[in-house]
Amino acid sequence: MSLRARVVALIAAVLAVSMALGMVVAGYEARQALSGELAAGLGGARQTVASAFEDLPHSDHPDRDLRQLIATFDGNRHVRASLLDAQGRAALTSHTSAPDRPAPPWFARLLGATPPAAQIAVPGAAAGFRAIVLTPTAGIDISAAWREFVGIVAVLSGSAALGLVLVYLVISAAFRPLRALAGQFSRVGAGDYSGRVAEGGPTELIGLQRGFNRMAAELAATTERNRLLGDQLLTIQEEERADIARDLHDDIGPHLFAVNMDAEMIAQLGDLGRHDAVPEHVRAIQAAVAHMQRQVRDLLSRLRPARMTELGLNAAIRDLVDFWSQRRPDIAFHLTLLQDEARLPEAVKDVVYRVVQEAANNAVRHGDPHAIQIALALDADRTLSVCVADDGVGRAAPSAVGGFGLVGMGERVAAAGGTLTFGPDPGGGWTTLARLKLDSPPASQQAAA
Ligand SMILES: Nc1ncnc2c1ncn2[C@@H]1O[C@H](COP(=O)(O)OP(=O)(O)OP(=O)(O)O)[C@@H](O)[C@H]1O
Ligand SMILES: [Mg+2]
Repeated sequence: MSLRARVVALIAAVLAVSMALGMVVAGYEARQALSGELAAGLGGARQTVASAFEDLPHSDHPDRDLRQLIATFDGNRHVRASLLDAQGRAALTSHTSAPDRPAPPWFARLLGATPPAAQIAVPGAAAGFRAIVLTPTAGIDISAAWREFVGIVAVLSGSAALGLVLVYLVISAAFRPLRALAGQFSRVGAGDYSGRVAEGGPTELIGLQRGFNRMAAELAATTERNRLLGDQLLTIQEEERADIARDLHDDIGPHLFAVNMDAEMIAQLGDLGRHDAVPEHVRAIQAAVAHMQRQVRDLLSRLRPARMTELGLNAAIRDLVDFWSQRRPDIAFHLTLLQDEARLPEAVKDVVYRVVQEAANNAVRHGDPHAIQIALALDADRTLSVCVADDGVGRAAPSAVGGFGLVGMGERVAAAGGTLTFGPDPGGGWTTLARLKLDSPPASQQAAA
């Protein structure tokens, strides 16, 4: 059952119960009033008859007086008077007007039984009449009460129906934004984050709508960032492969060609019997092979930065520094490494290496520094800080390609349960600082717990 139907049904039930209670109270009061009126009417009639009977023995025309007495009850709403003859038959009865619209019998029963008729004997059985019977009549009162009851029920039911319709309309209008919100939520569930809901309606809903819009915008932004990161990754991979192909072509190709040439020369010299010239070409082949071995090692280290897992974090960072020192001998690198890296979890080592790699990369690419400081430190509370600071320009023009290095670093550090700060230093230069609490499990494990 919908919430709207429940609210409307509840209000309808409350209205019905209050109407029923109101009727019971009104019915009880009408019953009391009616029985009071009938008793008073009968009492008055008794008195009228009694005082008439006092004068009757002195009357010259008792027959006329008795008929007149009965006639005084014509039109009386509460009492009907009948004159009984010597045989006990009603010789004369007053006229009581019948109600236009009599109430249904169940309603008359509800209002209570009428008091019993009273019989008063005619003194000395004057004019041959035995008694006067006074019968209480409540028909007109009951019919009036019935009309009033029908009116009240009509007014109350009309207002209740109107109230319910209004409540239904107000609730429907208030719930309309909820339906829109539910629709948008199912779109989000299906992976479509483009929808937004219009803000409006009750204040409680406006907060919900704002929260939904913020959530959808955040999800859309995250999805877009992931897509760009994916594209970036592909581009980087392709650039790297092109780079490697170039290096193979430029560095290895000519040397292979030279080795081939030297080998042919050795063959020709052998045929000619000039063995004295052979060692020179053998040395040239050895030099070319040594050069190619170095190139292949360099390529391998670029392809497998996971050298860290073989040599350890400190060695991998030293390799990185060597790599840059060879290419940028004008930059001085200062290294402070951990004494005991063995106790660091492998996942943390990986994060540390990636932070140092990207931060050093950024320093060289964007900062144009004279010196780069790389410092790893483990506090007493087992917080590992990784700081890469340079004395370069502090803020270079944003590169045309990227802007993903810092984002990627931040995500890696956050996934490991740490925090990353970076930015230009007040006195010039740029500092990137990651702080990782070693005893706190990574975010993924926390979520699983
Ligand atoms: N050491 C630094 N010195 C000066 N500017 C820096 C430094 N590190 C980062 N920046 C600035 O921050 C920007 C964002 O760096 P980020 O590493 O996110 O992207 P990027 O290096 O430009 O591209 P990539 O996605 O290839 O890493 C850089 O373009 C640069 O302007
Ligand atoms: Mg970068």
